[in-house]
Amino acid sequence: MKCPILLSIFSITILFNILIYYQFEFSTRFSIRKFTNYTECVYLLEAWNPNIHVLLIDLEFLKQLNYEICQWDKNKRIQIGVNKTYKKLEYSLDKNHFDVIYYTDDSEKDFLKFDIDGGRMIPRRFEASLSGNIVIPKDPQLFYEFWKRSKLLNCANVEMNRTEFQKPVLNAPTAATLISRLRDELLDNGMFMFLTDGTLLGWYRECTIIPHTTDLDVSVFKENYNPNYKKKVLNNESKYFKLWRSLGKEEDSLELTFIPKIERTPNIDLFIMYDGIEDGNLTHHYVSGVAGDGTKYRFSIPIYDPWCAAELHNHIFWHEYGPEWRKDHPSSVYTWNKSGKNGKAVGKFTKEEMRQYYIMY
Ligand SMILES: *[C@@H]1O[C@H](CO)[C@@H](O)[C@H](O)[C@H]1NC(C)=O
Ligand SMILES: *[C@@H]1O[C@H](CO)[C@@H](O)[C@H](O)[C@H]1NC(C)=O
Ligand SMILES: *[C@@H]1O[C@H](CO)[C@@H](O)[C@H](O)[C@H]1NC(C)=O
Ligand SMILES: *[C@@H]1O[C@H](CO)[C@@H](O)[C@H](O)[C@H]1NC(C)=O
Ligand SMILES: *[C@@H]1O[C@H](CO)[C@@H](O)[C@H](O)[C@H]1NC(C)=O
Ligand SMILES: *[C@@H]1O[C@H](CO)[C@@H](O)[C@H](O)[C@H]1NC(C)=O
Repeated sequence: MKCPILLSIFSITILFNILIYYQFEFSTRFSIRKFTNYTECVYLLEAWNPNIHVLLIDLEFLKQLNYEICQWDKNKRIQIGVNKTYKKLEYSLDKNHFDVIYYTDDSEKDFLKFDIDGGRMIPRRFEASLSGNIVIPKDPQLFYEFWKRSKLLNCANVEMNRTEFQKPVLNAPTAATLISRLRDELLDNGMFMFLTDGTLLGWYRECTIIPHTTDLDVSVFKENYNPNYKKKVLNNESKYFKLWRSLGKEEDSLELTFIPKIERTPNIDLFIMYDGIEDGNLTHHYVSGVAGDGTKYRFSIPIYDPWCAAELHNHIFWHEYGPEWRKDHPSSVYTWNKSGKNGKAVGKFTKEEMRQYYIMY
């Protein structure tokens, strides 16, 4: 009588062990899906929805949102931008889940300025959608491009000691607004314009437009250049600009000059900036110029990374390199093809080529 019971207990124990073993097997396999730290982004956005509007600025999280299955490590905090005017409500933000970066949004300015890394600025001009109280940039790639160029650099504001007072040729705030319009039209065509030459120098040295300059200079890199914009402007599809001239070839030497449609002044020169390759290595960048007699010039510019963001009369602009900025060079004696130390003649267009590559509209 005892034996069978013992046997049955024994067999039950075995069965039990097997069951436990199976359960264990099952639960470990199951846990790979359920019990990791990763969870779906949508779930997190719902579960962590804050009480106030916040801007999702976490580049990693934004990148995840682009993937088919968005997963996020719950232990990692999501970086969010919070309007500084909400600072008194900061107690309502869950700092375990969010890494809070305050930003200033001044309605006079066309950018948001974030209190991180000594200041970062991005154009206010991006589309976003709302998920609960979380504002999500619609185009994560564009947002990434903005952020990459966002590091704030302040101008030097050097006292210029000009001997004679001169009435500025250009009204600086008006000129800055004009360049910001071109910036936006270029952005709409996928181009990230940056300040160059005299305009860059003026911003850096004097925090404004140099009083004796008569035109404005900007640039885009060749790999970022979109030729459709030129066509659109020629088709009268630009809101603000006309094309005044087109010099050089798109492959290696293009310079476009825009003028505002109504006022027709000042000129804005858009230089396409090309890679300068020596022995297969990128050693510098260059922009080009063409003289009326067909002589072609190249102006070389040292490589300077990364991008920075700058404020000029309430507008955000980007720039790329460090200028030689200290000495004033009077515009009246400045000859574009002689005065710079970084330029050299690199050949001459024939009369035939000039008809193709020196076009006044
Ligand atoms: C989950 O998070 C905890 C705490 O941060 C960490 O110790 C653990 O390694 C994480 N597990 C996995 C599977 O990532
Ligand atoms: C930030 O707050 C100010 C003041 O309440 C408001 O005018 C502005 O629109 C807010 N900015 C954003 C981007 O929500
Ligand atoms: C202008 O003068 C001030 C005061 O003497 C001096 O500090 C500054 O460096 C000068 N600026 C330039 C560009 O030489
Ligand atoms: C260009 O477009 C504007 C509207 O944006 C229109 O008023 C103007 O007449 C057009 N000019 C020409 C030459 O077609
Ligand atoms: C170009 O790069 C190669 C590989 O980095 C290097 O060995 C060579 O010296 C470079 N040439 C010049 C002209 O810098
Ligand atoms: C420089 O450009 C001016 C105006 O375009 C032209 O008259 C002059 O011949 C050029 N100088 C040289 C050295 O090519």
